[in-house]
Amino acid sequence: MHPNAAITGWGHYLPERILSNQDLEKMVATSDEWIRTRTGIQERRVAGPSETTSVMCTRAARLALDRAGLFAQDIDLIICATTTPDHLLPGTGCLVQRKLGADNAGAFDLNSACTGFLYALSVASQFIQAGTSRRVLVVAGETLSRFMNYQDRTTCVLFGDGAAAVVLEATEQQAGVLSTVLGARGDAEHILAIEAGGSARPASPDTVAAGEHFVRMQGNEIFKTAIRAMAQSSRQAVQRAGLSMSDIHRVVPHQANSRIIVATQQALKLDDSKLVVNVERYGNTGSTSVPIALAEFLDTGPIHAGDNLLMVAFGGGLTWAAAVVRWADIAQIQGQRATPLAA
Ligand SMILES: CC(C)(COP(=O)(O)OP(=O)(O)OC[C@H]1O[C@@H](n2cnc3c(N)ncnc32)[C@H](O)[C@@H]1OP(=O)(O)O)[C@@H](O)C(=O)NCCC(=O)NCCS
Repeated sequence: MHPNAAITGWGHYLPERILSNQDLEKMVATSDEWIRTRTGIQERRVAGPSETTSVMCTRAARLALDRAGLFAQDIDLIICATTTPDHLLPGTGCLVQRKLGADNAGAFDLNSACTGFLYALSVASQFIQAGTSRRVLVVAGETLSRFMNYQDRTTCVLFGDGAAAVVLEATEQQAGVLSTVLGARGDAEHILAIEAGGSARPASPDTVAAGEHFVRMQGNEIFKTAIRAMAQSSRQAVQRAGLSMSDIHRVVPHQANSRIIVATQQALKLDDSKLVVNVERYGNTGSTSVPIALAEFLDTGPIHAGDNLLMVAFGGGLTWAAAVVRWADIAQIQGQRATPLAA
C-alpha cells in the first residue's frame, strides 16, 4: 500500500517592518480608503536588507522542523517555492539546505508564482506516495518588495514579503494530502510578469531604465479569471478527495484581495467561520500567502485528527491550484518514528 503524506510541522516568518496604507499615501497617488475598499489590505511586511528569501525560508523551516520534532538531517527532500529567489543560480532551496544543515536532503526550486506552495505540496506528496522520500520540507518564501516599483500604484499597494514551511511525512494513516488539482493557462502570461532578468531579456542598462525588472500586472484581467479558477479547482479537489464541501473544516484561500476571497466564498456557499483570512495584515505574499495563513490558523487552532482542510490559490502564469488535506494524528506518527520505517 502506498503511504500517505501528512503535515507534521509548520512555521512562518514575517519581516518586522510594516508598510501601512498611510505610508503608501506618501509614496504614490493612492489612499487608504481606495486600498481597503478595493483589496481589503491595511498593511504589508517589507524585508530588511539582510532578509533575503533564503534567510526568511530558513527561519520558517526551523520552526516547522521544531514543531514536527525533527532535526534538519531527518529531511530527505527540500522543495522551495519562490518567484523571488536570492539568485538565478544557485537555487534558493540549496541555500536553505545549507543554512539548515539538511545534509541528507536533495533540494530544488519550483516557480509557479502565487500557486507555488500548492504546486510544491502536490509534488512533495507524490514523492512520498511513490516511496521515493519519507520526509519532505516544503518551504515558500518571497521578497516581492525587491521587485516592486514603488512609483506604480497599480502593483506596489498589493504585495508583501514573508516565508512559511511545512514538513510532510509518510504515514499509513488515511490522512494527509488527499487530492491536488493543478491548472495553467500559459497564453495569459503577459498579464502578470517580470519581463527582464531572464534569458529572453537579460538585464541591461536599458531594461533597468525601463523598469522591466519590476512586477507588471493587468489586475482587472486577473480578477475575473481568479474567481472562476478558485471556485472550479476547489470543487474538483473536494470531489477528487471523495468529499463534499460540507466535509471541509476550513478553507485557506490565496490572500490576494478580500473581494476575490468573498466572491469565491459565495460561489462555494461557504460560511464565514470556515474561511481563514489575513489579507488585511500582509497583503499578497505570493507563493507564501497560503502557507502563512495555514500556519497562523494551525498556531491558534483548534484542529483535530480527521478534520479536512481545503487550500486554493491562483497566480501568475496564469496558474491555479487546490489541495485537500486531512489532518493526521501527529502524535502517533511521532511515536512510530522510533520504529524504522519499511524500506
Ligand atoms: C488590482 C485590483 C485591486 C484593482 O481593482 P479594480 O477594481 O480592478 O480597479 P481597476 O484596475 O479597474 O482600476 C480602477 C481605477 O483605480 C485606479 N487605481 C489603480 N490602482 C490604484 C491605487 N493603488 N490607488 C488609487 N487608484 C488606483 C486605476 O488607475 C483606475 O483608474 P481609472 O478608472 O481612472 O482608469 C484588482 O483588479 C485585483 O485585485 N486584481 C487581482 C490582482 C491580483 O490578485 N494579482 C496577483 C495575482 S496572484
